[in-house]
Amino acid sequence: MPKKLAFYLLTFAVSFVALAQTKPILPYKNPKLSVEERVKDLISRMTIEEKAGQLNQLNGGEFTGPAKNDPGQMAKMKQVKEGKVGSMLNVTGVVETSAIQKIAMEESRLGIPMLFALDVIHGYSTIFPIPLAEACSWDLPAIEKNSSIAAKEAAAAGIHWTFAPMCDIGNDIRWGRVMEGAGEDPYYGGLVAASRVRGFQGKLDDDAHLLACIKHFAGYGAVESGREYNLTDFSRPALWNKYLPPYKAAVDAGAATLMNGFNVLDGVPVSGSSFLINDILKARWGFKGLLVSDWGSFSEMISWGHAEDDKDAAMKALNAGSMMDMQSQTVIRFLPELVKEGKVSMQAVDEAVMRTLEIKFRLGLFDQPYKFSNPEREKKMLFTQENRSIARDAARKSIVLLKNEKQTLPILPTVKKLALIGAFADSKDDMFDFWIAKGESKNAVSVLEGIKAGFEPNAVVSFSKGYNIDGTTSEILIKEAVEKASLAEVILVNIGISGKMAGEDRALANPAIPEAQIQLLKALQKTGKPIVAIVTSGRPLILTEVQPLVSSIVQCWILGTETGSAIADVLSGQFNPSGKTVMTFPYAVGQIPVYYNHFKTGRPLPSEPDGDMSWKSRYRDIPNEPLYPFGYGLSYTNFTYSDFKLSSSSGSKGGTLIASVNITNSGNFDGEEVVQLYIRDLAASIIRPVKELKGFQKIKLKKGEKSTVQFTLTDNEFSFFNADGMTKLEPGRFHIFVGTDSKNTQKLDFDLK
Ligand code: BGC
Repeated sequence: MPKKLAFYLLTFAVSFVALAQTKPILPYKNPKLSVEERVKDLISRMTIEEKAGQLNQLNGGEFTGPAKNDPGQMAKMKQVKEGKVGSMLNVTGVVETSAIQKIAMEESRLGIPMLFALDVIHGYSTIFPIPLAEACSWDLPAIEKNSSIAAKEAAAAGIHWTFAPMCDIGNDIRWGRVMEGAGEDPYYGGLVAASRVRGFQGKLDDDAHLLACIKHFAGYGAVESGREYNLTDFSRPALWNKYLPPYKAAVDAGAATLMNGFNVLDGVPVSGSSFLINDILKARWGFKGLLVSDWGSFSEMISWGHAEDDKDAAMKALNAGSMMDMQSQTVIRFLPELVKEGKVSMQAVDEAVMRTLEIKFRLGLFDQPYKFSNPEREKKMLFTQENRSIARDAARKSIVLLKNEKQTLPILPTVKKLALIGAFADSKDDMFDFWIAKGESKNAVSVLEGIKAGFEPNAVVSFSKGYNIDGTTSEILIKEAVEKASLAEVILVNIGISGKMAGEDRALANPAIPEAQIQLLKALQKTGKPIVAIVTSGRPLILTEVQPLVSSIVQCWILGTETGSAIADVLSGQFNPSGKTVMTFPYAVGQIPVYYNHFKTGRPLPSEPDGDMSWKSRYRDIPNEPLYPFGYGLSYTNFTYSDFKLSSSSGSKGGTLIASVNITNSGNFDGEEVVQLYIRDLAASIIRPVKELKGFQKIKLKKGEKSTVQFTLTDNEFSFFNADGMTKLEPGRFHIFVGTDSKNTQKLDFDLK
């Protein structure tokens, strides 16, 4: 090649490379700029349709494989290409999520990544105990860990965002969704919610965590008569003191997103409640994250009678501060018109879009849109042995021992013949609720499998159904069960209701043990053998009839993948139960809602057993007291409480009160105890509950060991909110209680000057 030509070619190549290098990167794609600058730049390039797109969340499903040609799915893909979808829920797996991400990144005008969301409620493929059960462990580090494992698995499968934790207070066992929460106490509920947020999110700076979404903002747990999607109607003091604290704790823990409820507040559907969203969540709490509606909750404002049509619903939701529209598509359809007509300001739209984009930047999706899309990692991370053993430990810690007469439990190695009875023990289909993401019950350990593995070959385990899954039984089934039971030394009976009866849309008017199971227990009782009731259910059931028929009751909830192994660990004494219930077990349905932190009334029952009960607040046919109180749960050992002391019997605002108590493990096993501290404010400008949990400590004591537990109380513990949400700290007398549950307590007085 002539030298001159070579020179020209070289010059050309060098300038080409230089030119390519200096080709301007659009500011929003430039990782060197701040998130704020990038978001601002991107918003300035977006059309109103694209902005509406970012606020549109669609239900996904499969997009590759046979579903590819489905007209519904094709229409959704078209929307993705047009930049009209910001997020999808219910698309799972690296293959599906990355296929859609590719379209959003490469075929939409601005290449904005999608957010993939899923209800990862108690695990992704390794299933943990339901949140209600997990909360009974009172083990916050373990609860955080469980959520982090769920996040790790889901993130490996392409998911960015979970719709959990639920922060709704649950004190009505008719409501199926109590399984998703942490029970009836606002203080404890807040601690659990914060732990779960931390577990799911970590620092959100890697590819092993998810965005958490606290829900259902706010007060959804108060649905009237426990019926799903029903009215909520409660006072402002209840809002501030009872319903809001768990959400606030989760916001303070850094929850990145939050979901509107299906309910109403002060007669306004919460998706359209400016008071709740603009005034409380954003202005007062300083929440800077993203808000998503519940499924169709914008549109549901029409059925509630608050919005005229979808356009009106979108307007009301956005003006109230709501942001992303899950599934009702009101925003994508009407936002351009609403802005044009001046009914929704561009400022409101930009704020909502900004928050959506910020989250995507925070997750690193603009720079690495496929960061959650590694097929090798997906294969490696799911359902590992390590995750299963963490789930087993979580399951054992969730079990609550409600009754244990004559030390029937633990079952000692000297017992050689066991009868296990109950169709649920052998039905994997009924083990799980439906919030199980990709968990498969076929991979779970059933009660039967767990008990056989735990007790054989040392003992013989016979099995019979005793009743049918559909709630019926027959003479033959009962006869067979009694025959097998008669040959055993201890009878184990799995009673309860199907896991499928837990969760959304699973309200029950009569949450009790089915009549057929009671009939079976009565027949088994005649054998004179000790009976252990293993209760599996996604909520507390009415156990009043069961109680006298059996020696022991083990509340086993829905425990997930390792159900049977965890139950066997507890029954055999491999693990000494330490769970304490976070929901009161009612005596009868008519008591519901019944909760420990109730009010005294103007006509309380007398405290002396022989006091005059007439014209007092009571039932004529049942006691006021529940069957098992909040915080209750037995151990195989005993804990003795002594030397309960306060550092002072009076103090002033700004001071510190130390309450201390000695706990001795006075029984025959090593064990764990949840020491609980409650207070009561005796006279206040707004009446206060008879007891309020203000602290707890879970301690481990070896047989014979003693320990001193201390609680520190400050202004914070003695304060409450008035009807306007203002903090009140009022002088006066307080009872301070410590105890093993909310009922069995010791009491001292403290005067706040
Ligand atoms: C539930 C939410 C859930 C959403 C998405 C709704 O019906 O109320 O809790 O996150 O569906 O699945």
